[in-house]
Amino acid sequence: MESTRNKLIGLLAKEKDNYISGQLLSDELNISRSAIWKHMNELKKDGYQIEAQSNKGYRITGFPEKLSENTLKWGLNTDWAGTKIIHKETVASTQLIAHEAARNNAPHGTVVIADEQKEGKGRMNRHWHSTKDQGLWFSLILRPELQPRRAPQLTLLTAAVLADALGRHTQTEPMIKWPNDILINEKKCAGILTEMQAEQDRIQYIVIGIGLNVNQEETELTAETIKKQATSLKVETGKNWSMKALFQNIITTFEKAYDFYIENGFSDIKKKWESYGFKVDQRIQIKTMNKNREAIFKGISEDGALVVEDDNGDLQTLYSAEIEWFNNKGDENVNEK
Ligand code: BTN
Repeated sequence: MESTRNKLIGLLAKEKDNYISGQLLSDELNISRSAIWKHMNELKKDGYQIEAQSNKGYRITGFPEKLSENTLKWGLNTDWAGTKIIHKETVASTQLIAHEAARNNAPHGTVVIADEQKEGKGRMNRHWHSTKDQGLWFSLILRPELQPRRAPQLTLLTAAVLADALGRHTQTEPMIKWPNDILINEKKCAGILTEMQAEQDRIQYIVIGIGLNVNQEETELTAETIKKQATSLKVETGKNWSMKALFQNIITTFEKAYDFYIENGFSDIKKKWESYGFKVDQRIQIKTMNKNREAIFKGISEDGALVVEDDNGDLQTLYSAEIEWFNNKGDENVNEK
């Protein structure tokens, strides 16, 4: 059962700029006006900024930093992305909860977000280190009407969205390491994990998991448990960042890019991805199942594969490979325990 307090926050949050009268709140919640007044005082103690005017009523002008469904939704101007948010304090993995929600018909655009993950999942079955309140750990449920073979494009779209939103929001210059690691100053700041439930020719749903290191200190990232190539926004900018503002920026940018992609196809998204592509037109090392070699990284194909030029000038398309560059030790998962 939703608590009276949460209902109250929900009512106030819906009317972002308008006052709501004490009488209306008391009618809606079926509690006395003095009980409303007591709740308001409690909310103020918890960091909510509330304005009260005797002839108009109440309105919220600011939310506490602590994440909650209401905080994350307040001021979010999207049509479908993040209009339903499931927030949890501690989970094993937001991916698991998102799959369960999707199986139970959660709508397109539903977000599952947690303060902390105990068993955060990275790509290739790796662990994703997701410390309490220090990063954005969330999963987005999508129900695209696309052929399953186009799903990788959505991962690349997400990487372009993250690079775009982070660059604008934090004045940094993010780059994307194929296929979907977000680097700032050549260190990994964010990762994306896409999981799909599909039939032969129809996607049932996709869960896109995003992990973004936000307010970790350098010492927390270079701890023995985490490899040296990790970074956070705090380390790169010297500032603490509001999770809520970052989340809203990413979700809003995502919605625009996704709608554009559904309307216009992948080619502009591909260009955007390549404009952020790390080592595009440069020599890289490629590790595939059976060999290591060098080639020039030319970009990505329409289906999201890696396109390289070998020493004979021939173009090759690789679907499964790890890339390395020459001052780096490779694609170890930097948030790995
Ligand atoms: C990677 O290996 O680079 C992908 C990391 C993805 C981590 C995110 S955090 C939110 C979501 N829940 C998970 O368990 N994993 C993804």
